[in-house]
Amino acid sequence: MSSSDQEHKLPSEAELAEMSREDLVKLGGKLDGVEIVEYPDPWPVKGTRAEKRAERLVAFWFLLAALAGLAFVVAFVAWPSEYVAPDQPGHFWYSLYTPVLGATLGLSIASIGVGALLYTKKFIPHEVSVQQRHDGGSDPVDQATFVAHLADAGVRSTIGRRSLIKRSAGLGAGAMGLGLGVFALGGLVRDPWAQTDSKDSLWHTGWMSTDGERVFLRRATGDPEAVVLVKPEDLDAGAMETVFPFRESERDNHEALSAALKRSDNPVMLIRLRPEDAARVVKHEGQEDFNYGDYYAYTKICSHLGCPTSLYEQRTNRILCPCHQSQFDALTYAKPIFGPATRKLAQLPIAVDEETGYLYAKRDFIEPVGPAFWERKS
Ligand code: FES
Repeated sequence: MSSSDQEHKLPSEAELAEMSREDLVKLGGKLDGVEIVEYPDPWPVKGTRAEKRAERLVAFWFLLAALAGLAFVVAFVAWPSEYVAPDQPGHFWYSLYTPVLGATLGLSIASIGVGALLYTKKFIPHEVSVQQRHDGGSDPVDQATFVAHLADAGVRSTIGRRSLIKRSAGLGAGAMGLGLGVFALGGLVRDPWAQTDSKDSLWHTGWMSTDGERVFLRRATGDPEAVVLVKPEDLDAGAMETVFPFRESERDNHEALSAALKRSDNPVMLIRLRPEDAARVVKHEGQEDFNYGDYYAYTKICSHLGCPTSLYEQRTNRILCPCHQSQFDALTYAKPIFGPATRKLAQLPIAVDEETGYLYAKRDFIEPVGPAFWERKS
């Protein structure tokens, strides 16, 4: 059929206004070359026990989503999330924190999905249509008939008269949305300006000495009880080792030793440059005495999004972050030279203890480690 023929058959605006929803649906189909082959009502007899059972089944899943969403919010806020060492009372409940969050939020999202799926299967007419596609923009007739199609689908889905399903779906989606909102905003509630002098603030790490006690560089041996410190002769030229803070006062304190290994901003890369590379080092202003001889210590926390920058390529002296492939030049104060990171890795000032000969941190990092946050200036 030519377009002029089609235009000839188009109803006027007045006729359009007179047409029922079903007439508009048929007209829209006809104009678009759509032939509705099947459009059966899944529940031709209303109010049967089977229909009510199907309705309750859908509502059950939405209510389950609501309960799981609320459980997630409660767990996120109230579950004990502070680290508890394995041999301490409360470790069992602490160890369940992450699984409980995952299980409740996952159950909420999955239940919404199952509820929506079941509703579609049981209440939406399984229409079979064949439609011819056409080019060009939509004219008013198309727009009116399209809207009628949508309205018709809504009416035929019978959602309007199924208040149990509407309420349970609203409750489920609301609780899940609340859970997601709390999840997204929960981390922003902590005020980075609060207690800026505390070693637990965003401005400091576990390398901060609070009472003048020296903080030594401790090797990660895999045994949380083992305390193995580092002497300058321990590393070969070109080697890299991950170290953690250690205080003598914590030597027999299992909990403190474990916590030092687990704290996310504690890991530091201790790099011993080869002599020929050390001769080419460019130091950052204000950090001229942060190294000890050929030894340089950089935070392991990537300045992009905080992944562990755990790869050190001896041949090129590059530090690599596996997450998004940022690279940092260990010879030039770990400044970024490739990838999305824009800030250098924070450098830990180190020296050797005159009495014991072990490496220690002269002070905490002079800048926050890891990614940016609003209040951060450097
Ligand atoms: S977190 Fe390191 S590159 Fe993105």
